[in-house]
Amino acid sequence: MSTLQIKPTGTALGAQVIGADLTQPLDDATFAQIHAAFYQYELLYFRGQELSDEDHIRFSARFGELRKLKITKQLHVNHPEIFVISNIKQNGQHIGSYDAGIFWHTDGAYLANPHAVSALRALQVPVREDGRVLGDTHFVSVSKAYDTLPQAMKKRLDGLMAVQSIMHRLKQTQESGLKKDYNDAVKADPEATHPVVRVHPVNGRKCLYVTEGYTSRILGIPEDESRDLIRELTAHCIKPEFGYSHNWRQHDLVMWDDCSTQHKATFDYPESLPRLMHRTTVVAA
Ligand code: SIN
Repeated sequence: MSTLQIKPTGTALGAQVIGADLTQPLDDATFAQIHAAFYQYELLYFRGQELSDEDHIRFSARFGELRKLKITKQLHVNHPEIFVISNIKQNGQHIGSYDAGIFWHTDGAYLANPHAVSALRALQVPVREDGRVLGDTHFVSVSKAYDTLPQAMKKRLDGLMAVQSIMHRLKQTQESGLKKDYNDAVKADPEATHPVVRVHPVNGRKCLYVTEGYTSRILGIPEDESRDLIRELTAHCIKPEFGYSHNWRQHDLVMWDDCSTQHKATFDYPESLPRLMHRTTVVAA
């Protein structure tokens, strides 16, 4: 019998899974419990998982086919399924993406078939002198954000489509003073159009799919109206009542639903404190 415990965070989203050993293949009953909890709570975290890259890949692949990304510079040398996020430099070059998550976003929104699930593993975390781990990741539930919209707004959004663009993010990154070379990604998949309100493919919840990072234009309305609406919706999505902040520990694995959540990293640690994260992503159904 499974001894798994699912402990909700008590915020708008997320639960801790206690009693799972992800270094081992999970039996079907245990995985079914984790799968159900994931689509209920939209984010799960597991503490103390000293996973190999193969363990990380095996566990996340239970949720669906893993994406092999085309952004070649930030990929793990042996595993194209693993995207490396890090401030660590070797020979003067960052070993991974050093500014991932600088804006509120959902992973892969600029792809025609965006990511469904992301699983981020903490290999090294930046620890302040007093023991506080820096570099929290903030999450919001955009299904809850949608549910609380006034009826008139829900009606207005019905049927609207928006452009999700990696160039939009690149422009903001450059404006923020960080130079970023997105050439590979831009050439391969620069943008995609998706509904402003997505119906979740697994649980049918309606989710707001408009982010600060990637949404460049809402189609079918004047440009100034589009800009104002994006601003209004993104401000609504990131209200504290829809949020959960994850304070990392080394060997945490956090997985989130890319349709029903958005996330943003915190850059409150200096380069002298190394942070190394590995992320896998599941291709949408
Ligand atoms: C991400 O946006 O996927 C990375 C978040 C983080 O590094 O905290």
